[in-house]
Amino acid sequence: MSSLKIVPLFFLLSSAVIFCQVQEINDRPIIGIITQEVSDEVFFQYGKTYIADSYVKYLESAGCRVVPIRLNLSEDEYLYLFHSINGVLLPGGAVDLLNSSFSRTAALFYKLSIEAASSGIYFPIWGTCMGFQVLTALTSEKNLLSNTSAENISLPLNLMDDISSSKMFRHAPQELLHVVSTENITANFHRFNSRGQLSGENLPCVQSVSSGRPTCRIHGRWTTADREVNRFQWSKGYVFPHTENAIWLSQYTANFFVNEARKNSNRFPNAKEEESALIYNWSPTYTGNISGYEMVYFF
Ligand SMILES: *[C@@H]1O[C@H](CO)[C@@H](O)[C@H](O)[C@H]1NC(C)=O
Ligand SMILES: *[C@@H]1O[C@H](CO)[C@@H](O)[C@H](O)[C@H]1NC(C)=O
Ligand SMILES: *[C@@H]1O[C@H](CO)[C@@H](O)[C@H](O)[C@H]1NC(C)=O
Ligand SMILES: *[C@@H]1O[C@H](CO)[C@@H](O)[C@H](O)[C@H]1NC(C)=O
Ligand SMILES: *[C@@H]1O[C@H](CO)[C@@H](O)[C@H](O)[C@H]1NC(C)=O
Ligand SMILES: *[C@@H]1O[C@H](CO)[C@@H](O)[C@H](O)[C@H]1NC(C)=O
Repeated sequence: MSSLKIVPLFFLLSSAVIFCQVQEINDRPIIGIITQEVSDEVFFQYGKTYIADSYVKYLESAGCRVVPIRLNLSEDEYLYLFHSINGVLLPGGAVDLLNSSFSRTAALFYKLSIEAASSGIYFPIWGTCMGFQVLTALTSEKNLLSNTSAENISLPLNLMDDISSSKMFRHAPQELLHVVSTENITANFHRFNSRGQLSGENLPCVQSVSSGRPTCRIHGRWTTADREVNRFQWSKGYVFPHTENAIWLSQYTANFFVNEARKNSNRFPNAKEEESALIYNWSPTYTGNISGYEMVYFF
């Protein structure tokens, strides 16, 4: 008798679980990249803000389209963009982590992402290099950087803790984890290093180079690796790894982030609005002869 009651109950419960797990997947994700103030004087002649094209290609390589997020827009314009796109990438670069138009715009999207999460809407934010430093500054509400000398060097990652707790790496092939932790396949261009009181649960990822090797610990909503855009940067003046495994890691992290963005179903109100926001409306400028970036979008 009792098993007769239990069976339908179990069936109902498991269908409920299956129902909850069916998540609408957005196969036309659009990701915003926040522009930053031009800080390198060789770029002054081209514009006031920029996005390096390598970040655009990085995202596009995983199957999404890109929208530039300009600086100094009104809060309403940022809200409109937030509700039209499926994630944000904060690129590397060189602006003030707390006091720049870039960091203020990043802070707004960070706040909107957290607010959305509390109503069950998933809006992922990715930080690379300086973008990641901005995320640590926003999470801890202070600049946690100290000087380091991991500049222009390719290194393996120290993967800390139990990999099964890492959102980014828990489904990674064993072979990739092996090469990530043994081969010099991550590009490092850090003049600064986050270390110290970085153990809070709400902290996305802790990267330190105290042992001379970057240590990456990844959990929570935000994740990072390093200059994953090495695939699209070729300057011989810098160490950008291009081995088969370095490309594999870079593609893996791009796929990971764009897959996260597929879990968000925001969209532009209509095709015309979408078209006019996409980065296809701008053309990149060749900068391979004056900087480490091959091409840059100026705004
Ligand atoms: C943004 O606004 C600040 C403060 O008004 C100004 O200094 C800066 O030049 C503006 N940046 C752009 C890209 O318009
Ligand atoms: C932020 O930057 C502006 C412009 O560069 C500067 O005038 C202001 O003093 C800075 N504020 C802080 C708190 O550093
Ligand atoms: C980094 O070192 C420079 C001098 O070498 C110093 O002026 C600066 O304050 C240091 N920055 C940090 C964050 O420790
Ligand atoms: C990685 O680079 C470091 C620093 O340049 C070097 O000491 C080490 O031998 C390299 N390791 C491999 C496996 O190539
Ligand atoms: C980066 O390292 C490479 C190889 O060690 C070297 O040839 C190059 O000059 C360095 N670039 C800078 C800007 O330090
Ligand atoms: C870099 O290349 C562009 C395009 O070929 C050219 O217009 C520019 O003069 C070059 N700049 C330098 C500093 O060589």
